[in-house]
Amino acid sequence: MLTLHSPAKINLFLRILNRREDGYHNLSSLFQAIDLHDVLSLSLSGQDNMTCTDPSLPVDEKNLVMKAIALFRRKTKLPIYATVHLEKHIPHQAGLGGGSSNAATALWGLNLLAGKPVNDETLMAWGAEIGSDVAFFLSKGTAHCTGRGEVIKPLEAFLNNLPITIIKPCEGLSTPQVFRCLDLQKLSPRNPDLLLEKITHHFFENNLINDLEEPAFRLEPKLQELKNKLLNSGYKNVLMSGSGTAFFCLGNEGKITKTEALFIAKTTPVNRINGVWYNCENFAKKSLQKLKTFG
Ligand code: C5P
Repeated sequence: MLTLHSPAKINLFLRILNRREDGYHNLSSLFQAIDLHDVLSLSLSGQDNMTCTDPSLPVDEKNLVMKAIALFRRKTKLPIYATVHLEKHIPHQAGLGGGSSNAATALWGLNLLAGKPVNDETLMAWGAEIGSDVAFFLSKGTAHCTGRGEVIKPLEAFLNNLPITIIKPCEGLSTPQVFRCLDLQKLSPRNPDLLLEKITHHFFENNLINDLEEPAFRLEPKLQELKNKLLNSGYKNVLMSGSGTAFFCLGNEGKITKTEALFIAKTTPVNRINGVWYNCENFAKKSLQKLKTFG
């Protein structure tokens, strides 16, 4: 049995460039993996079978892990079937890439169990067929992503051990819902290449920009209130991740005591090296709290 950590991600900036003919959007975004993680256990078996600690998630072919196994079998033409168990900690409808990470972890793990018939670049290309964010997790954990998110330019890790607090409110939003509400007239005028330059040199203030905040806040006005609360609590750098609804706060100046939140996690960036999957052991040692809603 192979047991792998499946990390979450944040988007340090996310600029939407345009809408494409295939319905997707071209974007430019700086992705970073963080040590908040799910745990995926995999073993080869006679047929595919999945269990999950979260009863609200499907465990049939709709689950991205099951899609990843079927895709790996189809692409390699190997008779590879797997029994998987997913211990879920990353909140969903959060913009933290949990499902995509699970799919990437399954692809990487299956490839290892199958004796590495393909390299990570091939896994990346296959992963992109499952979802736009899957390829990123097959990078080393820091990357500038373009296209619909699947064109990956790996970057050196630059955040080191910066504390990153994740706050997920009760409200959740689905990615297609947020993209449908996007008003192309309201996109940020900021040049994404300059944002990339600034942020990778640690100039965070005024450069953490996510074009999906505007439609998400319109769909769910409580998100703007939550962002304001986080800023007022002392955090200087606060941004919604991906299509939301989780926020990340850089540094640890903020005090969030009376924040309306379903989930709070203290995390740090995580990266991996060639041939080795992500190790998020540090996170397990830190506190993970689930707070009840209070208004
Ligand atoms: O690729 P993925 O399945 O994660 O995307 C989910 C949905 O999000 C897509 O069906 C599309 O509506 C939207 N999306 C988009 N542009 C992107 C990524 C996602 O419009 N670059």
